[in-house]
Amino acid sequence: MNVYDSERMSELLGKVGFVRHSTPDSVDMIILNTCHIREKASEKLFSELGRLRLMKEQRARAGERLVLAVAGCVAQGVGKEIASRVPEVDIVVGPQNYHQLPTLVQQALEGDNRSLIHTEFPAESKFDFLPDERNHEGVSAFLSIQEGCDKFCTFCVVPYTRGAEYSRPVSEIIFEAQSLVECGVQEITLLGQNVNAYHGLKPDQTVASLSVLIEELGTIDGLSRIRYTTSHPKDMDDGLISAHKRLPFLMPYLHLPVQSGSNRILRAMNRGYSAEDYLVIADQLRNARPDIALSSDFIVGFPGETEADFEATLRLVEKVKFSQAYSFKYSPRPGTPASEMTNQIDNDVSAERLGVLQQLLDDQQRTFNRSKVGTKLEVLLEKPGRKQGQLVGRSLYMQAVHVESMDRSIPLTIGDLIEVDVVASNKNSLAAIKTDQPICKEDI
Ligand code: 5AD
Ligand code: SF4
Repeated sequence: MNVYDSERMSELLGKVGFVRHSTPDSVDMIILNTCHIREKASEKLFSELGRLRLMKEQRARAGERLVLAVAGCVAQGVGKEIASRVPEVDIVVGPQNYHQLPTLVQQALEGDNRSLIHTEFPAESKFDFLPDERNHEGVSAFLSIQEGCDKFCTFCVVPYTRGAEYSRPVSEIIFEAQSLVECGVQEITLLGQNVNAYHGLKPDQTVASLSVLIEELGTIDGLSRIRYTTSHPKDMDDGLISAHKRLPFLMPYLHLPVQSGSNRILRAMNRGYSAEDYLVIADQLRNARPDIALSSDFIVGFPGETEADFEATLRLVEKVKFSQAYSFKYSPRPGTPASEMTNQIDNDVSAERLGVLQQLLDDQQRTFNRSKVGTKLEVLLEKPGRKQGQLVGRSLYMQAVHVESMDRSIPLTIGDLIEVDVVASNKNSLAAIKTDQPICKEDI
């Protein structure tokens, strides 16, 4: 979501004359868009700011003005601390306020720092203030359809930094998707902290669920692939599960965080489902779409996690068989109920458990990738690879695929949706040879 937000900020600032740069040297403004989800992420901010304040001083000595802005969830969570620890910061802006950036930058350039911190949750939606048209490069894009969260998992800072759940209206999303397709986008990943809790208004003022929205988006000519992330198991309704059977443009890959396989820990996390519920959903998804690839998030070392609880997580992983996953050591976040629990787990114990879990998940990922060797896969080519003539794309299942053309006289082209023969695999990617011509959407 921060990638999406950064792109929207740059579109917004593009309207007032700023151009995005890939290096910080000689720019007029630097925005650090931050993540507060785990402590490591927010620690990075202060070390980065230490470097940038020196750069700002250097630029000032040369008579140049450099505007420093901190955006995102760390700005939201510890805005005051940022302002007091690093007075060189000109703007602190939360994830629901970045539509104000053009005005704030103007004020900062004029040396007016009366209002430095902008982290109130505004009554109006920022989306109403962002440019309607998108300006995106590349064949795959993110589109935020939902933000915030009302679930209040006890470990999670998101409900406090992103605010209450909000779903964008259907017509606004369709318009943005059409605009992305006009830029050459063929694959859209719908985003939300709780994307499958989506309940946006249709023009007739009735409510659309995520599956209804996906079905509508599927009618856009030129849009070949739709994905969505991140989902909550509690919101996997029948309509969404059956959409995976009904809608060929809905990709057979789902990131569905389970966090733990222990019911005791799931209760303490306030997740609202049991390990058994999760297994039932996984079965339902596989009945709807037998080849669906499942991905997940795990937290190890949540307060009070015993060896038996951790074993239950390993057992769940063995049963589900994930195509890939992300796993983290529990990180206490300020203001969350779990950070005040008295039964915190020793870091060495968490680290050891994380190692064991990651080994198992890595093995499953390798097995999944290996199972595609010798098969044909549809790939959307996205960017150049490391080797001459090679391009990298994504399979239906989100795997990175390095593709070379069998016939070097027919070069590969970014944006081709092609069928390839998979010839090799490793943990993180597949290697493939192009055999056939590009596939039309009608053929899928
Ligand atoms: N500690 C560790 N991991 C966390 N996540 C969220 N909050 C924490 C925390 N306090 C993980 C969850 C979530 C993912 C985005 O980040 O697994 O699904
Ligand atoms: Fe955080 Fe996701 Fe739980 Fe919401 S559902 S509180 S975003 S972990």
